Amino acid sequence: MTTRDTDARSLDVQEIARLLRAEGEEMSHLLAEARRRRVALLGNKVFFRGIVEFSNLCTKNCHYCGIRRDNRDVERFTMGLDEILAAARWAHERNYGSVVLQSGERQDERFVDLVDQALRQIRDLSGGRLGVTLSVGEQEPAVYRRWFESGAHRYLLRIETSSPHLYARLHPCDHSFEDRVSCLHELRRIGYQVGTGVMIGLPGQTVEDLARDVDFFRRLDVDMLGMGPYVVHSGTPLGEGAGDGSLDRQRRLELALKMIAVCRLVLPDVNIASTTALQALHPRGREMGLQAGANVIMPIITPVVYRKSYQLYDGKPCLDEEPAQCQTCLEMRIRVAGDEVGWGEWGDSPHALRRG
Ligand code: 5AD
Ligand code: SF4
Repeated sequence: MTTRDTDARSLDVQEIARLLRAEGEEMSHLLAEARRRRVALLGNKVFFRGIVEFSNLCTKNCHYCGIRRDNRDVERFTMGLDEILAAARWAHERNYGSVVLQSGERQDERFVDLVDQALRQIRDLSGGRLGVTLSVGEQEPAVYRRWFESGAHRYLLRIETSSPHLYARLHPCDHSFEDRVSCLHELRRIGYQVGTGVMIGLPGQTVEDLARDVDFFRRLDVDMLGMGPYVVHSGTPLGEGAGDGSLDRQRRLELALKMIAVCRLVLPDVNIASTTALQALHPRGREMGLQAGANVIMPIITPVVYRKSYQLYDGKPCLDEEPAQCQTCLEMRIRVAGDEVGWGEWGDSPHALRRG
């Protein structure tokens, strides 16, 4: 079997698992092949999505996450509407094509209104030119619809793992795998470009689980993928006393890069993010993601005062950098990877554009 085949799209789960097991030269070949496929299909443009982590309040209690409800060591914050708009204006003035508004999960009216106001006013301040992606968790269909009408056009909701069994082990019993899948279908029905993703290298996760994740993305017909390695947070039930041995970190990094590469081969025309968590495991992690077939980078544009309170995992990079420093640093990283920034473009995936 060669990954060069256009038929990589129809690889079965066993074949995908075989690719994910590639080591040494075989792995280098896989990553290079995915990179070639990305450049051939999408060119060497990388799109910026400025990410505003506007609130760390969360009603959920995922066992792996540093801002879970029961973590009392986190100073909770919610940015004001004016602060969110200032961040969006900053991104627009610097010609970022789009922003992502991300937060912990809440369903209360005040939160729903804040997001709605932010969407409407970002649309106004940018004359509709700044794309807006939401990443604020599971919501009622009516809320998803309201936000769509107010200007959000993309939504990121990671499934975290497509194994219902593993999902149940990673979450308290009031979290429902089926509900999360329903949300993804609802988002698609409403007309959002839909993104999902998983954490890679979770305790108890097998290569077959990851291969089935890729199959899940394919069956869901996603437009965007945001995946990253699982990174221990010592103040969580999953991370407590777990340690984070360096060999393990290297393996997790490699597995995450292989997942990006395999996804590029199986879903060639979707947007794939090179996520911040890659950089938590290796200083050049995000460049490595671009080299393995990713084509999106999400510079953090959250004001520095809030960054240390938005630590989903230990060792999150860029905690002291001002947004402008992040921009310069990421531009350099993109150039080093042999790419260029697609300034001022929404950067929709050809996959989403084909859907129309
Ligand atoms: N390691 C890596 N990613 C994490 N996330 C939450 N906690 C961790 C962790 N410990 C990811 C989840 C969530 C996204 C916002 O952050 O995948 O969807
Ligand atoms: Fe909340 Fe998301 Fe963290 Fe779960 S992963 S605790 S929903 S912020």
